[in-house]
Amino acid sequence: MNKTPILNPSSSLQTAAQPKGGPVWDLPLRVFHWALAISVFAAIGSAKNGVMFVHEKAGLTVLGLVIFRIIWGFIGSHHARFNNFMTMPKAVWDYIQSRLKGDRNYHPGHAPTGAYATLAILMVLLAMASFGTMANDDVLYEGPLAAYVGDFTNQARRIHHMIEKLVFLIIALHLVAIAVYRFKLGIKLIPPMITGGRDDTITQISRGHQIFGLVLMAACVAATQSIGLLGDRFF
Ligand code: HEM
Ligand code: HEM
Repeated sequence: MNKTPILNPSSSLQTAAQPKGGPVWDLPLRVFHWALAISVFAAIGSAKNGVMFVHEKAGLTVLGLVIFRIIWGFIGSHHARFNNFMTMPKAVWDYIQSRLKGDRNYHPGHAPTGAYATLAILMVLLAMASFGTMANDDVLYEGPLAAYVGDFTNQARRIHHMIEKLVFLIIALHLVAIAVYRFKLGIKLIPPMITGGRDDTITQISRGHQIFGLVLMAACVAATQSIGLLGDRFF
């Protein structure tokens, strides 16, 4: 799949003087990704073991990270932006065909399949965490917004449980996809998600832009953590 080089002219934080050869995944996006993976696993592990005060913290962190990622999808670096990776559904079919026909190249950024997978992961986690804030465990714990939604808290609990299956499915598919790239196509996707990788067709993201991204991420997580203060309990 060919990607058109775009210099993110709409970004007020990037200047024309910046050198070419930007990271495939900018630093805030990588921090977001690994923080998200840890928080999701922590949310699942703590819920399964009934450690609900950890579950609340982990779940609200997921919520903050997803909100950050949505904002970063509009103001992040080239490959982080939705308009640089979301495609028409037909592109997914064409992309799969090209892979089946033997394309084994690494194309920086999200492939059309990865683009839809990313959107799905973000939406499922957003729904999971949002309903969690209004849910209760039918025993001792209720989410910080449960007291504000009346009987809907029981509905929220059921929905939270239903979406649980989707969360497991989507994480499993995500990991299988990465393994397929590695072992069937011979493409290593993980190193760029750790080091950032490099794409010579795009412009460097400035240091200021990256610091801004990290601060924004921290602010989003702090904001969602503060939802916890609205509940009856203070842990
Ligand atoms: C609960 C666990 C995880 C979640 C929720 C998750 C979520 C995501 C999301 C949302 C993206 C899109 C990045 C973006 O544009 O924002 C992504 C990409 C990626 N993830 Fe994960 N991830 C998880 C675990 C992992 C693990 C354990 C690995 C490594 C084994 C991994 C490797 C990757 C890689 C390599 C990409 C980039 C894919 C590409 O090149 O298109 N993820 N992940
Ligand atoms: C995306 C992030 C989240 C994930 C992956 C997640 C995952 C889970 C899972 C797997 C369970 C079921 C545990 C069991 O089998 O008993 C659960 C239960 C629960 N979660 Fe979450 N959760 C998330 C976010 C949240 C948030 C943000 C809150 C509240 C602040 C929350 C509140 C609850 C409550 C009240 C239950 C108990 C429901 C019941 O027992 O029926 N969750 N969560």
